[in-house]
Amino acid sequence: MKFSLKKYKISLILFIVTLILLYICLSILTWIFNQNETLVTFAKNTLEQNTDYPATNSNLDIKMEIPTRTDGVKNCWQEADGSWGSQYDIYVINNTDYPFVDWRLEMSVPDEARIDSSWNGTYIESPGKITISGSAPFLTAIAPPHNNVKVGYVLYTNKLMTGSNFYLTGRFLRKPLKDIPFMTSLILVILSFLAFIISLVSSIMVERQKIKDEEKIEDLLQLCARFIDVRDEYTKMHSSHVGIYARKIAKEMGLSEDFQKTIYYMGMMHDVGKVLIPNEILCKTEKLTPEEWFEMRKHTTYGAEILKDFKAIPNIKDAALYHHERYDGKGYPQGLKGQEIPLEARIIGVADSYDAMHTNRSYRVHLSDDVILSELEKNKGSQFDPQAAEAMIRLLKANKLHQSE
Ligand SMILES: [Fe+2]
Repeated sequence: MKFSLKKYKISLILFIVTLILLYICLSILTWIFNQNETLVTFAKNTLEQNTDYPATNSNLDIKMEIPTRTDGVKNCWQEADGSWGSQYDIYVINNTDYPFVDWRLEMSVPDEARIDSSWNGTYIESPGKITISGSAPFLTAIAPPHNNVKVGYVLYTNKLMTGSNFYLTGRFLRKPLKDIPFMTSLILVILSFLAFIISLVSSIMVERQKIKDEEKIEDLLQLCARFIDVRDEYTKMHSSHVGIYARKIAKEMGLSEDFQKTIYYMGMMHDVGKVLIPNEILCKTEKLTPEEWFEMRKHTTYGAEILKDFKAIPNIKDAALYHHERYDGKGYPQGLKGQEIPLEARIIGVADSYDAMHTNRSYRVHLSDDVILSELEKNKGSQFDPQAAEAMIRLLKANKLHQSE
């Protein structure tokens, strides 16, 4: 059995669609993980004393406040030397669906600022800057989705801070299963792959069934061919041979595989009308009288009548009816000419004549290949279709006619 892409066209299309969707899916996945590596940064410069800073609607926000004591007063005080001490609570707010980790917050402070105490994080002081990170083991290591982490310190400065620049970095732990484009493409990949598998399996099953059906048809036609040929010892295997030769000619002419298969069946059945020819005519070894020839020629119309309802192979009756037509119009039963004769019948006509010349008959021994070649050359365009005859000549010259396929 030859593999043919045409038979699996739908499966192939679905396979390509699956690959494209898979590529899209993997691209989204790559994007998601690349996003994890992206630093999220922003700056904010809006600290006012005694004011809370509400979160904005962005993915991340910073909230900084001077908390209020139980007595209702903000927790800041002035020292005897005029400096200010104050508690600052700082919130890292995560407005997304994903945990925010490995974060680090840099904030500007006056140069003389010093931390008196701090909590919930790692603090690094440098002139004009404090860096806070929420690294493990602190609970602040991760800012949960739609939640915040709180850090803070008591800071001494010459004046109370009224603002600070913030610079926040970190990464989101995105979850592909929560990503709608990824999940959509993943579901499409799965559906498309399933469709591909179903299509492939059903195509294979259909193809196997087709092969079984064809085997049954061939067995049946082989049986019929033996019935046709068995009555005349000079034409044993003639029907099968004509089928095989016709198929080879069709292949040599570059006709489709379906055509080659059909013409093989047609070739086997081309002489089926002979079953209605009386034995004394069919098996007569002497020359036939004109009346007997008249009767003998009827095997074409008898064949067409027998095959007219054979639906499995469309037009199979044409081979029986027209295989004795000649290209020049001098054949029978209708005297069709050239292209008026169905192509199948023109090819079978060449195959039929070749087998007649190639085998022994009651009135002569078989002809040599050289004689047959010259007959084909001489009669192409008159008795034979020129292209079919040329194809047969090429097959004979290349010794390909009797090679098994
Ligand atoms: Fe015939």
